[in-house]
Amino acid sequence: MVAEMIREKVGGTMFRIETVHEYPMDYAETTDVAKAEQKAGARPELRSHMSNMDDYGVIFLGYPNWWGTMPMAVFTFLEEYDLSGKTIAPFCTHEGGGLGSSGRDLRAACPDSKVLDGLDIYGSRVGSSAKTVNDWINGLKLI
Ligand SMILES: Cc1cc2nc3c(=O)[nH]c(=O)nc-3n(C[C@H](O)[C@H](O)[C@H](O)COP(=O)(O)O)c2cc1C
Repeated sequence: MVAEMIREKVGGTMFRIETVHEYPMDYAETTDVAKAEQKAGARPELRSHMSNMDDYGVIFLGYPNWWGTMPMAVFTFLEEYDLSGKTIAPFCTHEGGGLGSSGRDLRAACPDSKVLDGLDIYGSRVGSSAKTVNDWINGLKLI
């Protein structure tokens, strides 16, 4: 939903980071799988890939806060491409943990990219966050 709000404002192409192996439907089971993946430093295989990353200069990177940072599949995504010189604007949904360490982790994963200040939104309040998203984008001064 947040990605859609961003696209409405700035345009662009939507790419969904999806894993080959799906996560359990059960929330608690998924938290267990995700915790094990984080502990192992896993890089879950992705279902699809971008063939034209070179065409993009600005990436709005969205993810849920999973155990205090990005899901491991997002690390797979970041390591799959040469993102040097690109601008990355991270946004995350959470249930109290905000961005966690994801801003720091993102900067470490992409040392040659320009990582902007991230936006964090309570997952349960996304429906009423259009103004917050709009203000955040304006504050990034991309245009
Ligand atoms: C595996 C897992 C780990 C999570 N860890 C955290 C956390 O550390 N901090 C937090 O605030 N929310 C945490 N959450 C809540 C998610 O951030 C929340 O469900 C998500 O932002 C909602 O987006 P979604 O509907 O796309 O899943 C976790 C959720 C899952 C499934």
